[in-house]
Amino acid sequence: MALPEGFIAEIKDRNDITDVASSYMNLKRRGRNMVGLCPFHSEKTPSFNIYTENGSFYCFGCGVGGDVITFIMKIENLDYIDAVKLLAQRCGLNMPEDSYDDSMSALRKRIYEANREAARFFYKSLYSPQGRKGLDYFHGRALSDRTIRHFGLGYADENPYTLCNHLEALGFKKSEIVAANLAFQRDNGNIFDRFRDRVMFPIIDLKGNVIAFGGRIMTDQKPKYLNTSDTPVFKKSANLFSLNNAKNSGVKSLILCEGYMDVIAVNQAGFQNAVATLGTALTQEQALLMKRYADEVIICYDSDEAGQKATARAIELLRNAGLLIKVITIPDGKDPDEFLRNRGAEGHDAFLNVIERSGNDLEYRLQKLRRSYDISQTDGKVAYLNEAVKILASIDNSIEQDIYISKLSKETEVSTDAVKQQMNKYKKRKRYSDKKTEFRNIRQNLSGRNDKLNPERYKKPRSTVAEESLIAYMINHPDKLGYISSRIDEGKIQTEFNRKLYVYFSERIKNGYDPLSSVSGDFTQEETAGIYRIVNSDFARMATEETLRENIEVINEEYAKLKTADAANATYDEIAEMLRMLRDSHK
Ligand code: GTP
Ligand code: MN
Repeated sequence: MALPEGFIAEIKDRNDITDVASSYMNLKRRGRNMVGLCPFHSEKTPSFNIYTENGSFYCFGCGVGGDVITFIMKIENLDYIDAVKLLAQRCGLNMPEDSYDDSMSALRKRIYEANREAARFFYKSLYSPQGRKGLDYFHGRALSDRTIRHFGLGYADENPYTLCNHLEALGFKKSEIVAANLAFQRDNGNIFDRFRDRVMFPIIDLKGNVIAFGGRIMTDQKPKYLNTSDTPVFKKSANLFSLNNAKNSGVKSLILCEGYMDVIAVNQAGFQNAVATLGTALTQEQALLMKRYADEVIICYDSDEAGQKATARAIELLRNAGLLIKVITIPDGKDPDEFLRNRGAEGHDAFLNVIERSGNDLEYRLQKLRRSYDISQTDGKVAYLNEAVKILASIDNSIEQDIYISKLSKETEVSTDAVKQQMNKYKKRKRYSDKKTEFRNIRQNLSGRNDKLNPERYKKPRSTVAEESLIAYMINHPDKLGYISSRIDEGKIQTEFNRKLYVYFSERIKNGYDPLSSVSGDFTQEETAGIYRIVNSDFARMATEETLRENIEVINEEYAKLKTADAANATYDEIAEMLRMLRDSHK
């Protein structure tokens, strides 16, 4: 990483991880550490730890971890350089000039520029003779020119080279256009436009960058939409269409629609707070993203079966993210776009009316449940109650719970006490099974099972654990490097990931650097998390010189075993060397 060591060290010094994290989440002190509910996955009991001693965090629930820079990268969805920039601003430091033009950052910059040019070009084309059909299409769907401009809608024409030629003329390289997913490349190296004869919807992030496009065909052909695939500046699952508009709406609620056209129609009717996912089902990441800008989400999906399924799924995710939820049902099974299409100026009030009549998610779920049972029969009634109490059990608010219990009791003519009892029974069972799941996850995380970073772990559990302990000890006690390296050289570290760490940290310590300060810049996010798992693990924190000696012994022993296995093909000298090692390791 091109940023100077001293600068990174200062950034970390001046941005205490506890202070920084506190502005995004609630933290409580526990011993020397701080704990809180993890902002990167949803949970009910805190597994997210901040280790004030070394300025790092690790979540046992989901296995994310790193330093203050990693924290900002993840929570603000930034790359390394931009996260450092944000922290520099936060503490009043200037970024060193030109030091950060590494190639990834440079490519990202070019992709943003290419996307911006493409958006401009599509918009201009819409108002050219070739784009007439696109403009007619939008007008036909009742969008005004003002709305078209506001969303920067456009048209990509039929000729497969139009955009490529335009961008190349502006100096963009083929590789940049392809990396932006604006074009595909043929085997002969030629490139051609990804979007052809489609109306275009630019997707804009919270900083105003054009990060992707959706393109809709104007006929009944399939696929109806083409969306930009993930690129270095775009992750479908972590962005929302029109969140850039919605965050400025001034209200703390979001209207979650199914499609781009719905969001645009709802905006045109005067509601700026509409968003949609980008051609995929809602993700947890998106739910947590919404939570950062809103307290409440109004789900406004289609009333067909797919829409109902999506609604159930969204309720679950949004509730877990701690959001209040309302569910809109639009009359006559229409989607918001159809509902608003011919209402013109009256659209606003009509839609507001629909919003106001929407139920909260509980009502929605109970109603849906109610429809699938025949409660005039005893069997149906019991089955209905059993399912209904599961829904009630998920509410935190006991007043709300009470209200629904009495409703349910009236509806089924079963006493409130019996309903309550049944609910509590379920709650208890659920609490138990939740804890078990949580326990399993944490254990899996801590044991490093399914370890993607170090897939050799399961073949070599004994060496892996000893290696990790050794590496952690070295990081926590840099003064012991001499002692360690006189007994272990990298060749004896058997698992590849740990060997990489051993070499990296030895080098840093040898050069007089703080071992951890550049980890988040030098490793991927997964690797960074893996390193902080090791450094902050109990075995590392409680390590002594005695355990260090044991680990060195284990590593030597395991290495000797490996060599013995090769003994059949070894020369006399090699066997003599192995014998010596075997004896040494048992001294
Ligand atoms: P209209 O049909 O023009 O009203 O568009 P819509 O936005 O209402 O589309 P629809 O309700 O059919 O789909 C909702 C969303 O799913 C769209 O906005 C797209 O994001 C996505 N989607 C729909 N069809 C496709 C498809 O063929 N491919 C992909 N990748 N996404 C699609
Ligand atoms: Mn639609």
